[in-house]
Amino acid sequence: MLSIESLHVTYGGAVQAVRGVSMEVPDGKVVAVLGSNGAGKTTLLRTVSGTLRLHRGRVEQGTVRFDGTDLVTKDPAQAVRLGLVQVPEGRRIFGRLTVEENLRAGGMGNRDKSAKAQAQQRVYDLFPVLKERSSQRGALLSGGEQQMLAIGRALMASPKLLLLDEPSLGLAPRIIGQIGEVIAEINRQGTSVLLVEQNATMALGVADLAYVLDVGEVSLSGNARQLSETDEVQRLYLGHDGGDERRVRVPSGKKLSRWTA
Ligand SMILES: Nc1ncnc2c1ncn2[C@@H]1O[C@H](COP(=O)(O)OP(=O)(O)O)[C@@H](O)[C@H]1O
Ligand SMILES: [Mg+2]
Repeated sequence: MLSIESLHVTYGGAVQAVRGVSMEVPDGKVVAVLGSNGAGKTTLLRTVSGTLRLHRGRVEQGTVRFDGTDLVTKDPAQAVRLGLVQVPEGRRIFGRLTVEENLRAGGMGNRDKSAKAQAQQRVYDLFPVLKERSSQRGALLSGGEQQMLAIGRALMASPKLLLLDEPSLGLAPRIIGQIGEVIAEINRQGTSVLLVEQNATMALGVADLAYVLDVGEVSLSGNARQLSETDEVQRLYLGHDGGDERRVRVPSGKKLSRWTA
């Protein structure tokens, strides 16, 4: 289980990105974290995957533990060995490498050959399109296929807990639906998932539990289905506010139209 308690994170000692967040991801569950731009979602994932320091971020207070092991002092390679693998926002696949090479890169830290072969089989079963395109360059895939490749690459490290940063970003509604189904299937196969999303419809559809982050703090949390029925989530995150329904106001006053995509 991932357990975060009273976490405070800053960047450059100044920007307070996460302020007093407590959260749990029980084994075998999908947990969603919703929130608008700048809420601190990516920062939370970086703290878990050991990549925070690469971005000049620092844990000021609080604890982050995975099965009792402290994560605050771990680097990314150590986090991967513990079973924590992050799919970064914006996919970041290797465009000039083939699909197969991208997948191989994801399994590089995995020394167990049979585990690697099993992971590869799992990825091709989950994403038959990646098998069909295995010798094509990553850059030639569609946005949805690239997201699937990014998820597949993470699965090559046989994660216990998969960390997904806005996998729906920039994708068409039909593709977002497929991503949601894939996340549910990955979870059915035994992998826990921490899913950061602005697309509340997809995230709450697949999650068991959910947290809403608002400028670095948890403003709501609970069972995903119950949360999706609350007035606040309906109004802010599912766009049922009567007028201007598919948009939501973000703190800066700008409007986001991709919220319910
Ligand atoms: N590398 C960084 N350096 C300085 N500030 C950052 C950095 N990354 C994120 N931030 C700031 O931290 C806050 C939370 O950002 P982030 O975790 O990326 O939010 P989200 O993923 O929810 O959009 C924002 O105010 C953002 O500007
Ligand atoms: Mg982010």
